[in-house]
Amino acid sequence: MMLTLKAPAKLNLSLDIIGKTSDNYHQLDSVMVAVDLYDELTFERGGEGAYFSCDRPDLPMDDDNLVVKATNLFFSVTGISTQSPGNGIKLRLQKVIPRQAGLGGGSSDAAATLSGLNRLYQTGLSREELVKLSVNIGSDIPFCINGGIARAGGRGEIIESIAPLPSSAVFVIAKPEVGVSTHKAFYLYSQNPVADHFETGKLVAAINSGNMVQIGGHISNIFEGVLDISQVHEIKKTLLGHGALGAAMTGSGSAVSGLFESVQTAEICLEDLRKKQDIVNFSCICSPLYSS
Ligand code: C5P
Repeated sequence: MMLTLKAPAKLNLSLDIIGKTSDNYHQLDSVMVAVDLYDELTFERGGEGAYFSCDRPDLPMDDDNLVVKATNLFFSVTGISTQSPGNGIKLRLQKVIPRQAGLGGGSSDAAATLSGLNRLYQTGLSREELVKLSVNIGSDIPFCINGGIARAGGRGEIIESIAPLPSSAVFVIAKPEVGVSTHKAFYLYSQNPVADHFETGKLVAAINSGNMVQIGGHISNIFEGVLDISQVHEIKKTLLGHGALGAAMTGSGSAVSGLFESVQTAEICLEDLRKKQDIVNFSCICSPLYSS
C-alpha cells in the first residue's frame, strides 16, 4: 500500500513573543500561512520494520529527524507494532524546503508523517488529536497539521484559523546562506527581551478587512531585531524596494518573505534577488495554500 503526500512550507506573517508558558517555553502570538513550496513524503506499508530514507545526505537520519520522531510517536501512541507482518513501513523524503530557514520544513514533514500514517493504518485520529500529540515533538507542527492560515498561540499548539488573504496575495521568499537554530534564537531573545511588541491583533484585523496595504503594514517578526542578520536586512530592503507591501523574516529565520499583489512585480523582484548570489542562496515565488 503506497501513499504520497506533499508537505508545504509555512510563513510567519507576524511573530511576537508575549510571555512564558507554564512549561517554560515562550508564549507566541503569530499569524502563519501555508504556501505552495513543498517537500514530498512517500509511504509504503508492508513487510516488517520501519525504514526511513531521504535524498539529502546532510539531514540527520536518526531520532533527531522530525520524520523519525513523528513515526516513533505514532507507533507508540497507537500501540501498532511494525514488527508484525504487513505492518512494516518505508518512508522516503524528498527535500525542497531549505533547512534552518524558518519555513517549517521539518515540522511540515512531521505533520505529513503523522497524517499519512493515520491514513495508512486507519487509526482514525482526529485533526485535533493529531494537533495535541504533535506539539510534543515540535512547536510548529500543530500549525502544519492545521494548514491554511491561522493565528497561533501558546507554545504553538493553540491554532485558530482566520480569514484567507485577498486572492491577489503572492510572496517572494529569499534565504541567505546563513541558517538559524530555533533554540539559539529563543535563547538570544531570553538574554535580551525586546520591549517593543508588535500587535498580531492588528494584522488579523487588517486581514479581516481585506486591505492589502494594511496587511503589508503589519507584517513583522520580533526575531529580526534579536538576531540582527545583515543579509536579512539587505533582502528585506530589496523586497520593499521592488514594491513589496510588507516584508519580514519568517520564524526564527533566516528566510525573509515579501508580500506582493502582482505576480509580475514579484517576478521582477525575484530576478533581482537571484542576481545577488553573495547574499541569497535560495529564492522562489509562492502563493498561500488553503486547506479543505
Ligand atoms: O518546539 P521546537 O522543537 O521547535 O523548539 C526548539 C527550541 O526553541 C525549544 O527547545 C525551545 O528552546 C525554543 N522554543 C521556545 N518557545 C517556543 C518554541 C520553541 O522557547 N514557543
